[in-house]
This record gives sequence, structure tokens and C-alpha cells, in this order.
Amino acid sequence: MTDPPTRHARLVAWVGEVAELTDPDQIVWCDGTRAEWERLTSELVAFGSLVPVPAKPDSFLARTDPDDVARVEERTFICSADPEDAGPTNNWTAPDYMRETMTGLYRGSMRGRTMYVVPFCMGSLDAEQPMFGVELTDSAYVAASMHIMTRMGAEVLERMGEDAEFVPCLHSVGAPLEAGQTDVPWPCNETKYISHFPESREIWSYGSGYGGNSLLGKKCYALRIGSAMGRDEGWLAEHMLILRMTSPEGKVYHVTGAFPSACGKTNLAMLEPTIPGWKVETLGDDIAWLRFGEDGRLWASNPEFGFFGVAPGTDYKTNPNAMRTIEKGHTLFTNVALTDEGDVWWEGMGEPPAHATDWKGRDWTPQSEEPSSHPNSRFCTPVKQCPVLADEYDDPRGVPIDAILFGGRRATTIPLVTQARDWVHGVYMGATLSSETTAAAVGRVGVVRRDPMAMLPFIGYNAADYFGHWIEMGKAATDEALMPQVFYVNWFRRGEDGRFLWPGFGENSRVLKWVVERLEGRAEAVETPIGYCPTPESLDVDGLDLDEADLKAALLVDHEEWAAEVPLVEAWFARFGDKLPATLWSELDALKQRLDVR
Ligand code: GDP
Ligand code: PGA
Ligand code: MN
Repeated sequence: MTDPPTRHARLVAWVGEVAELTDPDQIVWCDGTRAEWERLTSELVAFGSLVPVPAKPDSFLARTDPDDVARVEERTFICSADPEDAGPTNNWTAPDYMRETMTGLYRGSMRGRTMYVVPFCMGSLDAEQPMFGVELTDSAYVAASMHIMTRMGAEVLERMGEDAEFVPCLHSVGAPLEAGQTDVPWPCNETKYISHFPESREIWSYGSGYGGNSLLGKKCYALRIGSAMGRDEGWLAEHMLILRMTSPEGKVYHVTGAFPSACGKTNLAMLEPTIPGWKVETLGDDIAWLRFGEDGRLWASNPEFGFFGVAPGTDYKTNPNAMRTIEKGHTLFTNVALTDEGDVWWEGMGEPPAHATDWKGRDWTPQSEEPSSHPNSRFCTPVKQCPVLADEYDDPRGVPIDAILFGGRRATTIPLVTQARDWVHGVYMGATLSSETTAAAVGRVGVVRRDPMAMLPFIGYNAADYFGHWIEMGKAATDEALMPQVFYVNWFRRGEDGRFLWPGFGENSRVLKWVVERLEGRAEAVETPIGYCPTPESLDVDGLDLDEADLKAALLVDHEEWAAEVPLVEAWFARFGDKLPATLWSELDALKQRLDVR
């Protein structure tokens, strides 16, 4: 083996220990160069793990094992020393027990494969304290994806010097190859563990190659470990998009939005406003780290370097900027269809082709019974290719946040937009956020569940402590007026016939406009039991072909629906026992009084 290209003794020792345990054929230290990308992708093509997408420059398609298509929340663990610190919403296992179990699984698990060493940095390399990580993985697909999703390679290793702190991230697909054994296109293991050790800031992942389980800088580090760091250090790691909205008068606002997986973050982040004179620029589509700036305001930055977006539904009509981003190529697609012209296709992208190859590699026609693409199929593409990317995406300070949106997928109850009365009420809205489950995680789709701050699967500690941390952030502000205003949105309310009441996508700019005008104190609102809602006149629907009754229904605060929501929130809060911040019970009591329910 060649000498490691670093003098970081702890890193070299750890790489040695893992190699000893997992027994790979060779170790490759990733440098992040173009040549390395070409080597990885051409090897993956040669092994049949990737298929070229000739219609787009430098782009490839991966077809996963049909049982390895989404995050596995059932197999995701927070291994804190005290089970209380994982809380009632996470799976907990004692750290020693998990280490022992997984060490057993890792023994020899990389045999016949290459172990890639991927040094990466979440967020800007120029940050005061760059957030380093190193992922060891036996998946070339993961190494190639990390090229897109993170700042990685030789420069990161260089900046780590001889002793920088880093989060060790160990990943194995758990499919060793014996001599002479032929590989499968998508190696993985039925047994899966996605384990986090919040105290020692380590991540161990086994058995899955799917992005959310295997690209460990993303959900595992930037959210689960990140949230635990944020609790200890006074900041927030959130499942949020970040966008900049500029008004026709040239006033600039920054908005973050926390929506559960597959509930519209990427779409909103890249939105093309339908209202004249307004402009939206993208800063991030999935994760935001929020810290206080010297000015006392909350600043947000995106730790990622790529988009890992949901493919189905993405189209020039719904999200043209995502289409333009992937059109530039250098994109890894996963589980979408390939047309006979050598381009990608998925449900919701215009007219279906007469014939294609589906995500399982089978013939597909519009008459086929199954969709051509998996509902959680993805594109993985560099942020820099986004035509509406704001320059500050790489600014280590991020941008100062004016408004935070919480949102979910609810067919009933939740109006199009509601403004919180104050910070604590905003935290209450986030803590009680609910959404129908989606294909982004394995399990039933369309079931309403509480998904606090859209972080249910990503809070790396006790969710009640997390709510407390949010409340404390408001107290830590030098002046609450400097904190962002909080809003709750729902693009997914349906009419009795099942159709969406609100057209969504680019038309969501109208809601953003109302948000901005509320910040400016210009837009009208009605005070309702659940917060401030737009009067039908205060929402700009100029030029929108929308039934008046639909608009009313989208904005409606229905007493009966809210009365039915109360016991669900009570049951949710009860799960946290004494740990739940008392102010949240007070918020619920006040809501009950306003609704006149008990
Ligand atoms: P993310 O996972 O939160 O980033 O969600 P995406 O932005 O990728 O969207 C997930 C799915 O919801 C896609 O199929 C989108 O087409 C769809 N979607 C996004 N925004 C809207 C909207 O405003 N209205 C409706 N009806 N669907 C939307
Ligand atoms: P997302 O989730 O839908 O929030 O982008 C990504 C993932 O499932 O890993
Ligand atoms: Mn997304």
C-alpha cells in the first residue's frame, strides 16, 4: 500500500484500524480531482453498477437493489450513553453493544473491495472552524456521490493539517467478495444499521448504499451529529432550504423552510416566481446550519455542495431551475428510467416516451402497470450548476434569516399560510408539525405523523431537549425582534374531490410575497385561534386562474378540524413526559381556550 498522503496521525491510525478490521483489497485516498471522478465512474460503468446517460454530459444512472431505495428509519440508531438522551422518538442501543455488534459485521466486510478514504468538509473550507469529516467506504458509488455532495479531497486533507478534529464516518455495503466471486451491480446487505454515537461524534453505517443511509456527510453528520453539536454549542442544525427573495423595490429577504423529505424543499429553494418583479435565488435545498451573527441575528449556511433531489414530479413546468441544473450534466441519477434516446425520464416529466427501460432494468411502456421510476428516485447534482444560485452559498457566515417556514403535507386542517405570534408560538408550530409520510423513507406512504421541525428522523438527541434548545435560542437572542418570524405553510391541502386546492410550485411565490409584506408590516391578516392568516384580499392572486371557493378553502381555519387536532397534539406531547418544556403545554392550553375546546 502506498503511504497515506497526510501526516494527521489520528486519521492514519484510524484508517489502519478499519482496514485491519474490514480487510479491503486496497485503500484509495480520494483527491477529489476530475481524473478521479472519471476513474470512479468508468470503473462503475465497467462493473455494470452505472449506466451512462449519453443525452446529458458526464452523467450516469444507478439502479439499486429493489430493497435498497430509501432511508431506513427502523434501522437508524442514536447510541447515546443514556437512553434518555436519545428520547422517545429515536431507536436507541447502548453504544458498547452497538460497537460490538457492528464490529462483528464489519469484520472482513470489505474483502475483495477497495476502501475509499474520503476527506470532506461540511460547509465552507474558510469557516472559522471548518467542519471536517472523513468517510471510509467500500462503495465507489458513494465515493463518486461525495464528489458532488461535499467539498472533498486533497484540499480538505491539506487543510486538516496534522491534528484537526473530524467526524469519523464508517460505511460498508456489507457485501464482501470471495476470490472468484462475481459482483452484483448494487451490492448491499439485508442487515442494515445506520448508527450514530453523539457523544464521541462518530457515524457507523452498514448494509445500505442508498444516499440518505450512505452519504454520511448529509443526514447523518449535518443533521443528527450536527444537531447534538448545536445543542452543546448554541446553534441549530436543521432540515431546511435557504432562499433569497428580492422585492421589485430591490429589498432583500432570506427565508429558510423546514419541510419533511419529499415535501417541497428543493422546489421552493429554486422557485421561479410567477409574480412580476420578484426574484428568488437559491442558497440551499435541504440542510441549514443556523448560528447567531455578531449583529445578533440568526444566520444560515448550507453545509452541502450538491443537491440530492427527488426526481419524480421534477419538470420544466414545476421546477425549471432543477431541470437546468441537471441539464448541465455531471449528474448521478438513481432509480429513474432510461429512454431509447439515452436520456433520463420519470413520472411527471412531460409526455412519457413510447418505450423506455425502467428503474429495474425492464422494458417499460406507458401501458406498463408499474411506474418507470421509483417514487424516491433521485438526481445528485452540483450546487454550482444551479442557474439561480446566490453568490453567498460559499460564504462561511451564511445569510441573515428574516423568516422561517415550517410546512408539511396535509390534505386537511392546515391552512395555506399562518404566521406565529412570537418565537415561542413559532417553536410550538414547529414542535407540532405534522405531515403525511412519503416514499423518502421505507414504510407506509400517506400516513399522518408528527414530524417536529421536519426533523423527526434527524434529531440526534431527545426531541424534548431539542424543543427546549429552540426556545433557549429565542432567549439567547439579544433582542427577540432580531429573531426570524415564523410561518406555517401547507401546499398540499385538498378539496373534497381530492385535488390540490393551491397550484403550488412557482405560485408559492405569492405566499412568499405575503410573508415578506408581513415582515414589512404591510400585508393584512386576520387573527385566528392558530395565528395570523391572510385575508383573501391580502394574498396577491393577480393573474392566477384560481377558483375563489378553492382559495377560501385553502385559507380556511376550520374549527372542527382544529378541535380534532388537539387530542393528537396532546398525545404527542404526552410522549415526552416531564421533559417537555412547560411553555409548549401552555401554548397548547392557550390554543384550546381560543378554540373553546377542552
Ligand atoms: P424535498 O424532498 O423536500 O426537497 O421535496 P421536493 O421539492 O423534491 O418535492 C417532493 C415532491 O413534491 C415532488 O414530487 C414535487 O414535484 C412535489 N412538490 C413540490 N412542491 C410542490 C407544491 O408546491 N405543490 C405540489 N402539489 N407538489 C409539490
Ligand atoms: P430529502 O431526503 O427528501 O429531504 O431530500 C433525502 C434522503 O432521503 O436522504
Ligand atoms: Mn430535496
